[in-house]
Amino acid sequence: MYKIPAKTLFLGKDLKYLPSCHSTNDIASDLIEKNTAKNGMVVITDHQTNGKGQRGNVWISAPEENLTFSMVLIHKQLEIHQQFNLTLIVSISIIETLKELGVICQIKWPNDIYYGNKKVGGILINNSIQGNYISDSVVGVGLNVNQSEFEIATATSLKNISGRFFDNQVIFERLLEILEVEWLKFTEKGIGTLKMRYFRSLLGFGKWRTFQLLSEENKHFTAKIVDIGDLGRLKVELQDGTFKEFDLKELGWLFEG
Ligand code: BTN
Repeated sequence: MYKIPAKTLFLGKDLKYLPSCHSTNDIASDLIEKNTAKNGMVVITDHQTNGKGQRGNVWISAPEENLTFSMVLIHKQLEIHQQFNLTLIVSISIIETLKELGVICQIKWPNDIYYGNKKVGGILINNSIQGNYISDSVVGVGLNVNQSEFEIATATSLKNISGRFFDNQVIFERLLEILEVEWLKFTEKGIGTLKMRYFRSLLGFGKWRTFQLLSEENKHFTAKIVDIGDLGRLKVELQDGTFKEFDLKELGWLFEG
């Protein structure tokens, strides 16, 4: 069971708690389609039976141990080229929330939350496009909180990292508060220092790393992350001094830690 966050203005004020469901992202998208989703509505569950991850992957999360929820943002005038700003905001907000809990994590481009070389959380954003604008976004967050054992060796949780048990409601509320502040700041004042803050927590930023090119049978190459394009493409400098941009489908596991 989850409570409506006390300190937010609109995020989570319409809270749909489901003990179990297939995917909170799918449920939120259905509610948008039926015109019954308000700006800031959150769908949260204790048990996702068909959780969706990036690149068509599944998101597996032990029942009642972790946070699995989706937020609905209905936009007034968010242009398509601004879409990656939402990824920046959600990633930074998760990093900030975890920092307050004493867990310093990093972002693996574009929006995986890592501790060392293990994944603690992921974000899945589904945007609805109308012409040159994004009309609404479903922002799905999966955060491994109290789960101790994982099928995948590269997954971990806040509990495994810190040895402590966490109250999911507390993390949920604080994350929504931080996210709301960041989102309102962005809608009122623009991008500001968001990119710089994202780079500060971005794994491998400004460092020479080995990348994997999925399109060419996982060919390896050495490059340095130097920037992120508006659509979230990763801009890297190659060793010959030239620059190249990649999207998520083109690059595999980027670098070790
Ligand atoms: C990733 O692959 O890293 C993204 C994972 C996103 C998982 C969350 S859990 C809540 C929401 N509902 C879904 O079906 N997926 C997202």
